[in-house]
Amino acid sequence: MRPTLHQLEVFSEVARRGSFTRAAEHLSISQPTVSGQIKQLSQTVGLPLFEQIGRRLFLTEAGEALLASSHEMFDSLDRFQMAIADFQGKRRGKLKLSVVTTAQYIVPRLLGEFCMAYPDVDVSLQVTNHAQLTERMEENRDDLYILSHPPQHIDLKLEPFVDNSLIVVTSRSHPFARWTAGSKKLPIRKLAEAEFVMREPGSGTRRAIERHFAKHGISNVCVRLELNSNEAIAQAVAGGLGVTILSRHCLESVTMHPDLVRVDVTHFPIPGQWYIAHLSGKKLSVVAQSFREQLLSPSLMTA
Ligand code: PGA
Repeated sequence: MRPTLHQLEVFSEVARRGSFTRAAEHLSISQPTVSGQIKQLSQTVGLPLFEQIGRRLFLTEAGEALLASSHEMFDSLDRFQMAIADFQGKRRGKLKLSVVTTAQYIVPRLLGEFCMAYPDVDVSLQVTNHAQLTERMEENRDDLYILSHPPQHIDLKLEPFVDNSLIVVTSRSHPFARWTAGSKKLPIRKLAEAEFVMREPGSGTRRAIERHFAKHGISNVCVRLELNSNEAIAQAVAGGLGVTILSRHCLESVTMHPDLVRVDVTHFPIPGQWYIAHLSGKKLSVVAQSFREQLLSPSLMTA
């Protein structure tokens, strides 16, 4: 006996949500139906797929293997449907994207243009920090990813995208504010004495800053406030809470904020770049390919 597609769909949802009840709610079916489907599926496989610890469900080893196969199967079915739509001259299907928080200033606008050109494409865009995006890659959750500092342990196909250098920002009333656009720069060692507003651990921006300081022999800086939103950081700094280091794209989006200034510091900006990435073994759908091509168009690469 083989698992049915419906059983695999239910199983994937339970695995994603870690709960029969939440999966039932999401699929708009009853909780006993979900339990029944999982029970039958375990019988077909011949091994338990979940184990319950406390209130949470965890996948067993057999469950992990089945989940990986289910993802491949659903991906392949989606690709098939999109290829058929393409033969029929229609661009239709799903596009799943995950981008790091700094890319949120540019990707949604591009998606808008893409959706206007292809109104039958359903798009899901996740904006997360670097650590969560890496987890999504490990679970093969999306078609395309945009990030800086790609993880080494995942086999990825990477294409350089737009520059994402990191710059130093403070408020007009901060003593460092006079080091702007002048002929002299603030020495990096002086910058390191400031109180910082920083992104959370797990953020790619935070890691790039820590590595940059370490490269220049600076081992710890004073983090006065930790926030997981670039906008909240900009507001906190504008309000006089210290200094921060942000993607230049964040600053461009808040240039209307009259209280923020960019500080000229030696060894800054920290060079960086976004990449468009997908898992090496993954065959991109026609829709994902089209969006990738739009991203790689020459006008964007010089943005
Ligand atoms: P972050 O990542 O949103 O986790 O700071 C930024 C990046 O990788 O460019």
